[in-house]
Amino acid sequence: MTELSVVLPTFKERGNVAELVRRLDAALHGIAWEAIFVDDNSPDGTADAVKEMAATDPRVRCLKRIGRRGLAGACIEGMLSSSAAVVAVMDADLQHDETALPAMLEKIRGGADLVAATRYVEGGSAESFGEARGAISRLATRITHGLLGISLSDPMSGFFMMRRDKFDQVAPRLTPAGFKILLDIATAGSDLKIAEQPFVFGTRHSGESKFNAQVGIEFLGLLGAKLSGGLVDPRFIFFVLVGALGLVVHLLVLKAALPSTPFWVAQSIATFAAMTSNFFLNNELTYRDRRLKGWSMLWGFIAFCLFCAAGALTNIGLASWLFSAERETWWVAGAAGALMGAFWNYAMSSLFVWRTR
Ligand code: GDD
Ligand code: MN
Repeated sequence: MTELSVVLPTFKERGNVAELVRRLDAALHGIAWEAIFVDDNSPDGTADAVKEMAATDPRVRCLKRIGRRGLAGACIEGMLSSSAAVVAVMDADLQHDETALPAMLEKIRGGADLVAATRYVEGGSAESFGEARGAISRLATRITHGLLGISLSDPMSGFFMMRRDKFDQVAPRLTPAGFKILLDIATAGSDLKIAEQPFVFGTRHSGESKFNAQVGIEFLGLLGAKLSGGLVDPRFIFFVLVGALGLVVHLLVLKAALPSTPFWVAQSIATFAAMTSNFFLNNELTYRDRRLKGWSMLWGFIAFCLFCAAGALTNIGLASWLFSAERETWWVAGAAGALMGAFWNYAMSSLFVWRTR
Protein backbone atom coordinates (compact mmCIF):
# COMPACT_ATOMS: atom_id res chain seq x y z
CA MET A 1 0.00 0.00 0.00
CA THR A 2 1.33 3.43 -0.92
CA GLU A 3 1.99 5.58 2.13
CA LEU A 4 3.30 8.73 0.46
CA SER A 5 2.29 10.44 -2.79
CA VAL A 6 4.77 13.03 -3.99
CA VAL A 7 2.97 15.53 -6.21
CA LEU A 8 5.25 17.17 -8.78
CA PRO A 9 3.80 20.02 -10.83
CA THR A 10 5.58 20.42 -14.15
CA PHE A 11 5.66 22.92 -16.94
CA LYS A 12 8.51 22.49 -19.39
CA GLU A 13 10.64 20.28 -17.14
CA ARG A 14 11.56 17.53 -19.59
CA GLY A 15 15.22 17.67 -18.67
CA ASN A 16 14.50 17.18 -14.95
CA VAL A 17 11.95 14.41 -14.51
CA ALA A 18 14.19 11.36 -14.91
CA GLU A 19 16.84 12.71 -12.56
CA LEU A 20 14.13 13.61 -10.06
CA VAL A 21 12.70 10.08 -9.97
CA ARG A 22 16.23 8.72 -9.56
CA ARG A 23 16.78 10.97 -6.56
CA LEU A 24 13.38 10.18 -5.01
CA ASP A 25 14.18 6.49 -5.32
CA ALA A 26 17.43 7.02 -3.43
CA ALA A 27 15.97 9.32 -0.77
CA LEU A 28 12.78 7.36 -0.03
CA HIS A 29 14.32 3.96 0.55
CA GLY A 30 12.08 1.90 2.84
CA ILE A 31 9.01 4.09 2.27
CA ALA A 32 6.14 3.00 -0.01
CA TRP A 33 5.97 6.06 -2.26
CA GLU A 34 4.62 7.13 -5.63
CA ALA A 35 5.33 10.14 -7.83
CA ILE A 36 2.35 11.99 -9.34
CA PHE A 37 3.49 14.38 -12.04
CA VAL A 38 0.88 16.99 -12.97
CA ASP A 39 1.79 18.42 -16.35
CA ASP A 40 -0.03 21.25 -18.10
CA ASN A 41 0.57 19.88 -21.58
CA SER A 42 4.13 21.23 -21.74
CA PRO A 43 5.25 21.89 -25.33
CA ASP A 44 8.63 20.29 -24.61
CA GLY A 45 7.03 16.86 -24.15
CA THR A 46 7.49 16.57 -20.37
CA ALA A 47 4.40 14.34 -20.15
CA ASP A 48 5.85 11.90 -22.71
CA ALA A 49 9.07 11.69 -20.72
CA VAL A 50 7.07 10.92 -17.56
CA LYS A 51 4.90 8.32 -19.29
CA GLU A 52 7.97 6.61 -20.66
CA MET A 53 9.10 6.07 -17.06
CA ALA A 54 5.58 5.15 -15.95
CA ALA A 55 5.50 2.36 -18.53
CA THR A 56 8.16 0.45 -16.61
CA ASP A 57 7.84 1.89 -13.08
CA PRO A 58 4.40 1.54 -11.43
CA ARG A 59 5.34 4.15 -8.81
CA VAL A 60 5.29 6.87 -11.45
CA ARG A 61 2.06 8.43 -12.74
CA CYS A 62 1.27 11.31 -15.05
CA LEU A 63 -1.76 13.52 -14.81
CA LYS A 64 -1.92 15.60 -17.96
CA ARG A 65 -4.11 18.70 -18.03
CA ILE A 66 -5.15 20.26 -21.31
CA GLY A 67 -6.17 23.89 -21.83
CA ARG A 68 -5.25 24.91 -18.27
CA ARG A 69 -2.25 26.52 -16.62
CA GLY A 70 -1.32 27.23 -13.04
CA LEU A 71 0.94 25.87 -10.34
CA ALA A 72 -1.55 25.94 -7.44
CA GLY A 73 -4.31 24.31 -9.47
CA ALA A 74 -1.94 21.57 -10.64
CA CYS A 75 -0.90 20.85 -7.03
CA ILE A 76 -4.53 20.69 -5.89
CA GLU A 77 -5.54 18.24 -8.62
CA GLY A 78 -2.49 16.09 -7.99
CA MET A 79 -3.22 15.85 -4.28
CA LEU A 80 -6.89 15.14 -4.95
CA SER A 81 -5.91 12.22 -7.18
CA SER A 82 -3.93 10.54 -4.39
CA SER A 83 -5.22 7.69 -2.25
CA ALA A 84 -2.17 7.52 0.02
CA ALA A 85 -2.35 8.53 3.69
CA VAL A 86 0.19 11.33 3.20
CA VAL A 87 0.79 13.72 0.30
CA ALA A 88 3.80 15.94 -0.40
CA VAL A 89 4.22 18.72 -2.94
CA MET A 90 7.58 19.74 -4.34
CA ASP A 91 9.00 21.49 -7.39
CA ALA A 92 10.17 19.25 -10.21
CA ASP A 93 13.29 21.27 -11.06
CA LEU A 94 15.37 19.82 -8.17
CA GLN A 95 15.47 23.11 -6.25
CA HIS A 96 13.63 21.38 -3.42
CA ASP A 97 15.80 18.97 -1.47
CA GLU A 98 14.18 15.53 -1.63
CA THR A 99 16.40 14.26 1.18
CA ALA A 100 14.23 16.32 3.58
CA LEU A 101 11.20 14.12 2.80
CA PRO A 102 11.88 11.27 5.30
CA ALA A 103 12.29 13.75 8.17
CA MET A 104 9.05 15.46 7.13
CA LEU A 105 7.25 12.10 7.09
CA GLU A 106 8.55 11.41 10.60
CA LYS A 107 6.94 14.63 11.78
CA ILE A 108 3.61 13.59 10.23
CA ARG A 109 3.88 10.19 11.90
CA GLY A 110 4.63 12.07 15.12
CA GLY A 111 1.29 13.89 14.98
CA ALA A 112 1.68 16.91 12.67
CA ASP A 113 -1.05 17.56 10.08
CA LEU A 114 1.13 19.73 7.88
CA VAL A 115 4.91 20.00 7.63
CA ALA A 116 6.17 23.09 5.82
CA ALA A 117 9.70 22.96 4.45
CA THR A 118 11.29 26.32 5.22
CA ARG A 119 14.31 28.27 4.05
CA TYR A 120 14.08 30.86 6.80
CA VAL A 121 15.03 29.04 10.00
CA GLU A 122 18.34 27.70 11.30
CA GLY A 123 19.55 25.02 8.91
CA GLY A 124 17.66 26.37 5.92
CA SER A 125 18.75 28.83 3.27
CA ALA A 126 17.61 30.55 0.09
CA GLU A 127 20.98 31.81 -1.06
CA SER A 128 20.65 30.32 -4.53
CA PHE A 129 17.75 32.73 -5.19
CA GLY A 130 20.00 35.64 -6.18
CA GLU A 131 19.52 39.31 -5.24
CA ALA A 132 16.27 40.28 -6.94
CA ARG A 133 14.16 37.14 -6.38
CA GLY A 134 15.47 36.88 -2.83
CA ALA A 135 14.35 40.44 -2.10
CA ILE A 136 10.89 39.83 -3.62
CA SER A 137 10.50 36.64 -1.59
CA ARG A 138 11.51 38.33 1.68
CA LEU A 139 9.22 41.30 1.00
CA ALA A 140 6.27 38.99 0.23
CA THR A 141 7.03 37.05 3.41
CA ARG A 142 7.05 40.22 5.49
CA ILE A 143 3.79 41.50 3.98
CA THR A 144 2.16 38.13 4.61
CA HIS A 145 3.31 38.03 8.21
CA GLY A 146 2.14 41.60 8.81
CA LEU A 147 -1.26 41.21 7.19
CA LEU A 148 -2.28 37.66 7.98
CA GLY A 149 -0.40 37.12 11.23
CA ILE A 150 0.47 33.50 10.49
CA SER A 151 3.20 31.55 12.19
CA LEU A 152 4.83 29.94 9.13
CA SER A 153 8.41 31.18 8.79
CA ASP A 154 8.35 30.65 5.00
CA PRO A 155 4.76 31.01 3.75
CA MET A 156 6.03 31.40 0.17
CA SER A 157 7.53 27.93 0.14
CA GLY A 158 6.12 25.51 -2.41
CA PHE A 159 7.49 22.48 -0.54
CA PHE A 160 5.35 20.73 2.09
CA MET A 161 3.76 17.51 3.23
CA MET A 162 0.37 16.86 4.80
CA ARG A 163 -2.14 14.24 5.86
CA ARG A 164 -4.40 13.54 2.93
CA ASP A 165 -7.60 13.52 5.01
CA LYS A 166 -6.74 17.04 6.22
CA PHE A 167 -6.08 18.15 2.67
CA ASP A 168 -9.43 16.76 1.48
CA GLN A 169 -11.11 18.88 4.15
CA VAL A 170 -9.61 22.19 3.03
CA ALA A 171 -9.50 21.49 -0.73
CA PRO A 172 -12.92 23.04 -1.55
CA ARG A 173 -11.75 26.36 -0.06
CA LEU A 174 -8.56 26.76 -2.12
CA THR A 175 -7.79 29.13 -5.00
CA PRO A 176 -6.30 27.49 -8.10
CA ALA A 177 -4.62 30.70 -9.31
CA GLY A 178 -1.01 31.62 -8.61
CA PHE A 179 1.94 29.94 -6.92
CA LYS A 180 1.05 30.24 -3.22
CA ILE A 181 -0.58 26.94 -2.44
CA LEU A 182 1.04 26.43 0.99
CA LEU A 183 -0.08 29.86 2.22
CA ASP A 184 -3.58 29.15 0.96
CA ILE A 185 -3.79 25.77 2.73
CA ALA A 186 -2.27 27.00 5.99
CA THR A 187 -4.81 29.83 6.24
CA ALA A 188 -7.80 27.80 4.99
CA GLY A 189 -7.49 25.09 7.64
CA SER A 190 -8.42 26.47 11.02
CA ASP A 191 -7.07 23.80 13.34
CA LEU A 192 -4.09 22.35 11.45
CA LYS A 193 -1.16 21.19 13.58
CA ILE A 194 1.77 22.70 11.69
CA ALA A 195 5.44 21.70 11.97
CA GLU A 196 8.43 23.00 10.03
CA GLN A 197 11.44 21.41 8.38
CA PRO A 198 14.48 23.49 7.38
CA PHE A 199 15.95 22.88 3.93
CA VAL A 200 18.45 24.49 1.59
CA PHE A 201 16.86 25.85 -1.58
CA GLY A 202 19.04 24.57 -4.41
CA THR A 203 19.70 25.66 -7.96
CA ARG A 204 17.61 24.63 -10.92
CA HIS A 205 18.85 21.49 -12.68
CA SER A 206 17.63 22.24 -16.23
CA GLY A 207 15.17 24.66 -17.90
CA GLU A 208 14.02 27.99 -16.47
CA SER A 209 11.71 29.52 -13.84
CA LYS A 210 8.06 30.32 -14.66
CA PHE A 211 7.84 33.08 -12.08
CA ASN A 212 6.61 36.32 -13.67
CA ALA A 213 4.59 39.50 -13.07
CA GLN A 214 1.30 37.62 -13.30
CA VAL A 215 2.36 35.31 -10.47
CA GLY A 216 3.04 38.40 -8.34
CA ILE A 217 -0.35 39.91 -9.18
CA GLU A 218 -2.12 36.65 -8.34
CA PHE A 219 -0.34 36.66 -4.99
CA LEU A 220 -1.74 40.12 -4.20
CA GLY A 221 -5.19 38.84 -5.17
CA LEU A 222 -4.86 35.87 -2.81
CA LEU A 223 -3.83 38.22 0.01
CA GLY A 224 -6.87 40.40 -0.62
CA ALA A 225 -9.19 37.41 -0.60
CA LYS A 226 -7.65 36.17 2.67
CA LEU A 227 -7.90 39.60 4.29
CA SER A 228 -11.62 39.77 3.52
CA GLY A 229 -12.09 36.31 4.99
CA GLY A 230 -12.79 34.84 1.56
CA LEU A 231 -15.82 37.12 1.10
CA VAL A 232 -14.43 39.21 -1.72
CA ASP A 233 -13.28 37.81 -5.04
CA PRO A 234 -9.66 38.96 -5.69
CA ARG A 235 -10.70 40.08 -9.15
CA PHE A 236 -13.22 42.50 -7.68
CA ILE A 237 -10.52 44.03 -5.47
CA PHE A 238 -8.39 44.77 -8.54
CA PHE A 239 -11.43 46.12 -10.35
CA VAL A 240 -12.15 48.56 -7.51
CA LEU A 241 -8.48 49.62 -7.25
CA VAL A 242 -8.39 50.33 -10.98
CA GLY A 243 -11.64 52.27 -10.60
CA ALA A 244 -10.14 54.36 -7.78
CA LEU A 245 -7.19 55.19 -10.01
CA GLY A 246 -9.70 56.08 -12.74
CA LEU A 247 -11.20 58.68 -10.40
CA VAL A 248 -7.76 60.26 -9.99
CA VAL A 249 -7.32 60.32 -13.78
CA HIS A 250 -10.76 61.87 -14.11
CA LEU A 251 -10.03 64.71 -11.70
CA LEU A 252 -6.61 65.45 -13.19
CA VAL A 253 -7.97 65.64 -16.73
CA LEU A 254 -10.93 67.73 -15.55
CA LYS A 255 -8.59 70.18 -13.87
CA ALA A 256 -6.40 70.43 -16.98
CA ALA A 257 -9.32 70.86 -19.40
CA LEU A 258 -11.46 73.29 -17.39
CA PRO A 259 -9.72 76.63 -18.07
CA SER A 260 -10.19 76.37 -21.83
CA THR A 261 -13.57 74.56 -22.20
CA PRO A 262 -17.09 74.72 -20.74
CA PHE A 263 -17.65 72.41 -17.77
CA TRP A 264 -19.76 69.81 -19.59
CA VAL A 265 -17.12 69.41 -22.31
CA ALA A 266 -14.32 69.10 -19.75
CA GLN A 267 -16.37 66.61 -17.74
CA SER A 268 -17.03 64.52 -20.87
CA ILE A 269 -13.35 64.47 -21.83
CA ALA A 270 -12.41 63.49 -18.26
CA THR A 271 -15.01 60.70 -18.21
CA PHE A 272 -13.71 59.30 -21.47
CA ALA A 273 -10.10 59.49 -20.25
CA ALA A 274 -11.01 57.64 -17.05
CA MET A 275 -12.90 54.92 -18.94
CA THR A 276 -9.96 54.47 -21.30
CA SER A 277 -7.47 54.18 -18.45
CA ASN A 278 -9.80 51.79 -16.60
CA PHE A 279 -10.23 49.60 -19.66
CA PHE A 280 -6.53 49.21 -20.35
CA LEU A 281 -5.56 48.69 -16.71
CA ASN A 282 -8.30 46.09 -16.27
CA ASN A 283 -7.12 44.39 -19.43
CA GLU A 284 -3.55 44.22 -18.07
CA LEU A 285 -4.29 43.50 -14.40
CA THR A 286 -7.78 42.42 -13.43
CA TYR A 287 -8.44 40.21 -16.45
CA ARG A 288 -4.84 39.47 -17.36
CA ASP A 289 -5.64 35.80 -17.84
CA ARG A 290 -8.32 36.71 -20.40
CA ARG A 291 -6.48 39.66 -21.95
CA LEU A 292 -8.09 41.03 -25.12
CA LYS A 293 -5.95 41.68 -28.17
CA GLY A 294 -6.45 43.10 -31.68
CA TRP A 295 -10.03 43.49 -32.88
CA SER A 296 -11.56 41.91 -29.80
CA MET A 297 -9.80 44.59 -27.78
CA LEU A 298 -11.52 47.30 -29.84
CA TRP A 299 -14.96 45.67 -29.46
CA GLY A 300 -14.25 45.07 -25.80
CA PHE A 301 -13.40 48.74 -25.32
CA ILE A 302 -16.63 49.90 -26.99
CA ALA A 303 -18.70 47.43 -24.94
CA PHE A 304 -16.91 48.49 -21.74
CA CYS A 305 -17.70 52.18 -22.38
CA LEU A 306 -21.38 51.39 -23.03
CA PHE A 307 -21.70 49.26 -19.89
CA CYS A 308 -19.94 51.89 -17.80
CA ALA A 309 -22.32 54.55 -19.11
CA ALA A 310 -25.24 52.35 -18.03
CA GLY A 311 -23.45 51.81 -14.71
CA ALA A 312 -23.23 55.57 -14.23
CA LEU A 313 -27.01 55.81 -14.77
CA THR A 314 -27.77 53.14 -12.14
CA ASN A 315 -25.32 54.89 -9.83
CA ILE A 316 -26.95 58.31 -10.27
CA GLY A 317 -30.45 56.80 -10.11
CA LEU A 318 -29.87 55.02 -6.80
CA ALA A 319 -27.98 57.94 -5.24
CA SER A 320 -30.66 60.48 -6.23
CA TRP A 321 -33.46 58.25 -4.92
CA LEU A 322 -31.66 57.79 -1.60
CA PHE A 323 -30.90 61.49 -1.33
CA SER A 324 -34.37 62.71 -2.31
CA ALA A 325 -36.70 63.69 0.53
CA GLU A 326 -33.61 63.47 2.78
CA ARG A 327 -33.90 59.77 3.20
CA GLU A 328 -30.10 59.66 3.60
CA THR A 329 -27.19 62.04 4.17
CA TRP A 330 -25.36 63.12 1.03
CA TRP A 331 -22.29 60.94 1.47
CA VAL A 332 -24.22 57.76 2.28
CA ALA A 333 -26.35 58.28 -0.83
CA GLY A 334 -23.28 59.09 -2.93
CA ALA A 335 -21.25 56.11 -1.69
CA ALA A 336 -24.17 53.70 -2.11
CA GLY A 337 -24.59 54.88 -5.69
CA ALA A 338 -20.88 54.51 -6.42
CA LEU A 339 -20.78 50.99 -4.92
CA MET A 340 -23.84 50.00 -6.92
CA GLY A 341 -22.17 51.34 -10.08
CA ALA A 342 -18.97 49.42 -9.29
CA PHE A 343 -20.89 46.15 -8.82
CA TRP A 344 -22.79 46.70 -12.04
CA ASN A 345 -19.64 47.51 -14.05
CA TYR A 346 -17.84 44.53 -12.56
CA ALA A 347 -20.66 42.10 -13.26
CA MET A 348 -21.11 43.31 -16.83
CA SER A 349 -17.36 43.34 -17.50
CA SER A 350 -16.90 39.81 -16.19
CA LEU A 351 -19.94 38.48 -18.05
CA PHE A 352 -19.67 40.24 -21.39
CA VAL A 353 -16.40 42.13 -21.93
CA TRP A 354 -13.77 39.73 -20.56
CA ARG A 355 -15.95 36.63 -20.73
CA THR A 356 -14.39 33.18 -20.57
CA ARG A 357 -14.53 31.53 -23.93
N1 GDD B 1 1.60 22.05 -13.90
C1 GDD B 1 2.19 23.26 -13.78
N2 GDD B 1 1.56 24.37 -14.31
N3 GDD B 1 3.38 23.38 -13.16
C2 GDD B 1 3.94 24.59 -13.08
C3 GDD B 1 3.35 25.76 -13.60
C4 GDD B 1 2.08 25.62 -14.25
O1 GDD B 1 1.48 26.57 -14.74
N4 GDD B 1 4.15 26.82 -13.34
C5 GDD B 1 5.23 26.32 -12.68
N5 GDD B 1 5.11 24.99 -12.54
C6 GDD B 1 6.05 24.05 -11.90
C7 GDD B 1 7.44 24.11 -12.46
O2 GDD B 1 7.58 23.25 -13.57
C8 GDD B 1 8.27 23.66 -11.27
O3 GDD B 1 8.30 22.27 -11.16
C9 GDD B 1 7.52 24.24 -10.09
O4 GDD B 1 6.18 24.43 -10.54
C10 GDD B 1 8.11 25.55 -9.59
O5 GDD B 1 8.15 26.48 -10.63
P1 GDD B 1 9.42 27.42 -10.91
O6 GDD B 1 9.14 28.16 -12.16
O7 GDD B 1 10.67 26.62 -10.85
O8 GDD B 1 9.30 28.41 -9.68
P2 GDD B 1 10.47 29.19 -8.94
O9 GDD B 1 11.63 28.32 -8.69
O10 GDD B 1 10.70 30.47 -9.63
O11 GDD B 1 9.70 29.50 -7.56
C11 GDD B 1 9.89 28.64 -6.47
O12 GDD B 1 10.10 29.37 -5.33
C12 GDD B 1 8.99 30.03 -4.78
C13 GDD B 1 9.40 30.62 -3.47
O13 GDD B 1 9.51 31.96 -3.46
C14 GDD B 1 8.71 27.69 -6.28
O14 GDD B 1 9.10 26.71 -5.32
C15 GDD B 1 7.49 28.33 -5.75
O15 GDD B 1 6.53 27.31 -5.42
C16 GDD B 1 7.86 29.07 -4.51
O16 GDD B 1 6.73 29.76 -4.07
MN1 MN C 1 12.26 26.59 -9.56
